[in-house]
Amino acid sequence: MLRSLFVALAVSAVFAGVPTPEETKRMMGHLSDAEHFKNEHHNKQYDHDAFLGEDQAKAFDQLPPEESKRRLGIIADKIDSDKDGFVTLVELKDWIRYTQKRYTEEDTERHWRQHNPDNSEKLAWEDYKKNVYGFMDEMSEKEKNTPNSEGFAYASLLKRDRRRWHYADADQDGSLNRTEFAAFLHPEENPTMRDVVVLETLEDIDKDKDGKVSLEEYIGDMYKPEDGEDDEEPDWVKQEREQFTGYRDTNKDGFMDEHEVKDWIAPPEFDHAEAEARHLVFEADADADEKLTKAEILEKYDLFVGSQATDFGEALSRHDEF
Ligand SMILES: *[C@@H]1O[C@H](CO)[C@@H](O)[C@H](O)[C@H]1NC(C)=O
Repeated sequence: MLRSLFVALAVSAVFAGVPTPEETKRMMGHLSDAEHFKNEHHNKQYDHDAFLGEDQAKAFDQLPPEESKRRLGIIADKIDSDKDGFVTLVELKDWIRYTQKRYTEEDTERHWRQHNPDNSEKLAWEDYKKNVYGFMDEMSEKEKNTPNSEGFAYASLLKRDRRRWHYADADQDGSLNRTEFAAFLHPEENPTMRDVVVLETLEDIDKDKDGKVSLEEYIGDMYKPEDGEDDEEPDWVKQEREQFTGYRDTNKDGFMDEHEVKDWIAPPEFDHAEAEARHLVFEADADADEKLTKAEILEKYDLFVGSQATDFGEALSRHDEF
């Protein structure tokens, strides 16, 4: 429901001219940041984003299958850094770290320049707010306080941004320098932002807004039965129910509170790049020797890059990889 609301918001925002589509995308991105932590049920997009970086993953989506396979072959050679013909877990993990870092660095640079064209050392909250949410000055209080309205949704995003800003502002001077701004934009990459990511995740899943996650909210976040179908739940959903009751809800009160959500999405020492690398190796390792050949990677090309190509004429905007 929330997601469709935000799609609607994105569309109307584009037509109204404010905020910029780029900003709206980032605001909506708030909702998906947390998904990166919940990689239990791997969705394909998550794998593609992790393997290629979000921007490249999008570009690959536009490619015809043969072309995306060809490029995947080039990438596979590149990942095999010692050129022994095998992509090992470590090489894959390093690659995933590298693409992730490249993406967040480029994304931060883009937003930093956009909000801070003079490249001052710091960006003040008031300036950022004016840039991103200035259009809300035209809205009435009533508009902003009516649940499920557009104004209400933007007001919630503003509030969320303000709080996230506070967490990112390491020296608490009200402004963010570039390092702090990177933490603000990509909290999932930054250990010091863990608590606010936990809060945002909890709030996204907590549909009835009682401050905790019930079993139904937990399942509802990952699984929606098709309309009008009352088929039996798939096995993985049943397993998730057991996970919730047996593990996630450690104090057995029937809910996940903030601490329990934190243990779930951000356990200490958990290495997402490594988890993702393990997952990819496991899925593609046909002969189970715990490393991948180029052939094994290409065989599972859908896992790594996929392709939803429909418009074969679409050109790629960046070529540096190839
Ligand atoms: C930004 O400020 C933090 C302290 O809040 C400091 O550690 C960091 O080095 C600063 N970064 C830059 C680019 O000045």
